[in-house]
Amino acid sequence: MIKTIIHNQYKKYKTKLWLKLGYGVSSPDGYWENTYRQGKWSYLKYLDQLGRFSIMAGYVHRLKPGGTLLEVGCGEGLLTESLNKDNYFKYIGIDISKEAIQKAYSRADEKTIFLNTEGAEFVTKERFDAILIIETLYYFNNPLQILQYYEKFLNDDGLFIISMYRHGKRPLGIWKKVESVYKVFDSTVIINKKKHIFDCKVLITH
Ligand SMILES: C[S@@+](CC[C@H](N)C(=O)[O-])C[C@H]1O[C@@H](n2cnc3c(N)ncnc32)[C@H](O)[C@@H]1O
Repeated sequence: MIKTIIHNQYKKYKTKLWLKLGYGVSSPDGYWENTYRQGKWSYLKYLDQLGRFSIMAGYVHRLKPGGTLLEVGCGEGLLTESLNKDNYFKYIGIDISKEAIQKAYSRADEKTIFLNTEGAEFVTKERFDAILIIETLYYFNNPLQILQYYEKFLNDDGLFIISMYRHGKRPLGIWKKVESVYKVFDSTVIINKKKHIFDCKVLITH
């Protein structure tokens, strides 16, 4: 019993320190399949999430009208509901969860494509005007390294458009680390009715 408490406390402390240093925490195998199956993420469709999707879509259309878009960790493809179909050339959404991608397929069309793949291993010959990572960056062990990996898939003046929920201090270390390399071109804070705070930022590579 005492051993378990000490172990749990240690794990909590380690995670806190880890996040403060700008690292994320990946989820155990099967977590995403199980939670999507159980409907844990259905709330992402609720009205109180509209603010962050709207600002992300707004950034895309204002900064990269008619652009080629990649979303890493697209889940069920909910962002596409806020995108204007006539105002992007192509959208590719990727996600580690088969279950989520199955649900996303109902939103696919000739220029809106969903792929089930691990984000850290995605490879493509395509180049994108914007790469979006919405409520997902903190699920990678090394968020900065992930952005550096994806940078090669951006066009010369391409952008990262990222949102992270302010779950306590959780994402602050990640923003700090990421912003030591990438410049913030614009940022918006969304606060919904439940007082949940989301930071939405556009990052440029030079
Ligand atoms: C909180 S959900 C957000 C989903 C979507 N972006 C939204 O806002 O509705 C996080 C998503 O990240 C995906 N994810 C987590 N780790 C991933 C990885 N290593 N590669 C690709 N997707 C990942 C999960 O499957 C999940 O769909």
